[in-house]
Amino acid sequence: MQIGWVEIEDFRNYRTLSYSPAPSLNVLSGANAQGKTNLLEALAVLLTGRSFRTTKLAELPAWGTETTSVHGEIRRTEGSRTLRRTIQRRQDGAWQSVGEDAEWARVVAFGWQDLEIVNGAPQARRNFLDGFALRLYPTHRAALVRYRQVLARRNFLLQQRLAEPVLAPRLAPWDEQLVTVGAEVIDRRRRAAAALQTELARIYPALAGADPELAGGRHKVEIRYRAASGETGDGEELARALAAARRAEMRRGQTLVGPHRDDLAIELDARDARAFGSRGQQRLLALALRLAEVLPITDAVGTVPVLLLDDALSELDPEVRRHALREVESAEQVFLTSPEPLARVDGVHWIVAQGGIAAA
Ligand SMILES: Nc1ncnc2c1ncn2[C@@H]1O[C@H](COP(=O)(O)OP(=O)(O)O)[C@@H](O)[C@H]1O
Ligand SMILES: [Mg+2]
Repeated sequence: MQIGWVEIEDFRNYRTLSYSPAPSLNVLSGANAQGKTNLLEALAVLLTGRSFRTTKLAELPAWGTETTSVHGEIRRTEGSRTLRRTIQRRQDGAWQSVGEDAEWARVVAFGWQDLEIVNGAPQARRNFLDGFALRLYPTHRAALVRYRQVLARRNFLLQQRLAEPVLAPRLAPWDEQLVTVGAEVIDRRRRAAAALQTELARIYPALAGADPELAGGRHKVEIRYRAASGETGDGEELARALAAARRAEMRRGQTLVGPHRDDLAIELDARDARAFGSRGQQRLLALALRLAEVLPITDAVGTVPVLLLDDALSELDPEVRRHALREVESAEQVFLTSPEPLARVDGVHWIVAQGGIAAA
């Protein structure tokens, strides 16, 4: 899929902007704080209704304004459509995002904050996996919301410090739901991880190339879903783990098994990349994980997602940069920002300066 044109009003440091990008690789360069990342963010808002770097809508309108809008045309083989998204402040002061989504619009966004997926806490990996699963299976969102509600109810009951005979019948209906919805969440995360694994096994070595430090011993990258409840993560196992954890849960006043405690193991040559990966390996893994999202999303949705790559090449060696560019060229429409012009890269070049954009 592609963005045909976009019009932005009062979005971050942009007052008004009309931009018709190329259908292939767009290289956006410009000095710091000119609006490169902000523009990628506006494109994500057009396509998905949300930013990839913040959940706070209030950050998006230009300072001193109460409304921002992003309007544009998106295209795929079957046809095109225009979308409009408005983020505004309601009478009661809360911010809202209004507009329609195209059910086939998808984005793969990368920024160096994604290093957190590899070297951060388990929460970062769960969010990554859920974010990916959401783009593959739209019903995942409802399951996550429901799971959070069930968890909150269950934790509330556990915090009442009730005696076991009183607590047990009250917990029972929530246990049942935690098991049903939890197993659903785990199943989708597992399938998402398996889809990523297939791509990652190809992409990581392709990016690392012959670099001995990056490639590691045998180039072998593996990601595996790790359920706190056990090997399979199915409903029965989850129910058993929950029963076994009852005493500890009563002591701690919180739910100790379920997908909110799970993790994604990321290994390079059978060693945990978080603990043992070099900084260079971790950086490359973060980029490879995002690029690994492209093909499974394409297969699930039937159109290639738009790639928003924020400063993706800056931390890489020249050799690895070339490999990354080759990988990216096989996608459809790509936006790649860079502090330098990247003159030797094939693509349409743009200069971003002071909340404006011009052909280079
Ligand atoms: N809501 C906002 N309103 C106006 N300016 C903003 C807003 N949010 C961020 N900015 C400004 O946008 C600029 C950063 O733009 P950014 O796209 O991150 O730059 P870069 O080109 O380095 O990627 C900064 O100068 C920042 O102060
Ligand atoms: Mg930036």
